[in-house]
Amino acid sequence: MASASSFATKATNSISLLFFISIFSLSIFSITSSNLPNNPIPTPWPHQFHSILVVNNSGSNQIINLWYDWTNGRNFNIIRKQLGEVLYDLEWNNGTSFYYTLDSNKKCKTVKFEVGILRPNWLEDANYLGQQKVDGFLCNVWEKVDFIWYYEDVVTKKPIHWVFYTGMEAHVMTFEVGAVLEDANWQAPSYCFEKKEKEDNPKLKSSVNGESSMEGFLRGSMGL
Ligand SMILES: *[C@@H]1O[C@H](CO)[C@@H](O)[C@H](O)[C@H]1NC(C)=O
Ligand SMILES: *[C@@H]1O[C@H](CO)[C@@H](O)[C@H](O)[C@H]1NC(C)=O
Repeated sequence: MASASSFATKATNSISLLFFISIFSLSIFSITSSNLPNNPIPTPWPHQFHSILVVNNSGSNQIINLWYDWTNGRNFNIIRKQLGEVLYDLEWNNGTSFYYTLDSNKKCKTVKFEVGILRPNWLEDANYLGQQKVDGFLCNVWEKVDFIWYYEDVVTKKPIHWVFYTGMEAHVMTFEVGAVLEDANWQAPSYCFEKKEKEDNPKLKSSVNGESSMEGFLRGSMGL
């Protein structure tokens, strides 16, 4: 009996301790949020990473495998549309992008941009907006040229979420630093090299810019 009641007392004590700790951390939290870090800068992107993104593009859902490979001057968005096709958006740092499917339709568009892929520090000059909880993570938030809103976990410094001015929003599901896609996968299919006259067709360019690729969209519109 005695041991049971002392157990109960101990449990009550730990509950009040927990309660005290949560109140205490709540007040710490309100101190930090009213005393924000002074203009923090987004963590530069690792030179190589793989990320799986869940994307809502104006109500159309996509899963994007993003393979960022600054070291080799290339960036890949493999875009799976919900119950639809898989679109490959392969970008080289020399400005050439290939957009293609690997199905029997054999679609391919080649686009020349003035700019290369995103630099690891492409968010360096973004405007700091403060902190906000997104997808369950407390994030520092930045905005760049009214084009992108970028959310980074305060603790882990990993990107959590970004939103384009178009309303297209990405949720970062995985972020594997150092992961690299094998070279063989970076070869655009032969039909990308067949109809050369299609390159630099302005009509084609604008239709491609209307595509749902994010980085292509970014580098085409921001000239980063
Ligand atoms: C997807 O985005 C559209 C607007 O672009 C919004 O109306 C809709 O609620 C979003 N869906 C989800 C699941 O967030
Ligand atoms: C850029 O590099 C890719 C991959 O090596 C190549 O296929 C493409 O032709 C290059 N573009 C230019 C303009 O040199």
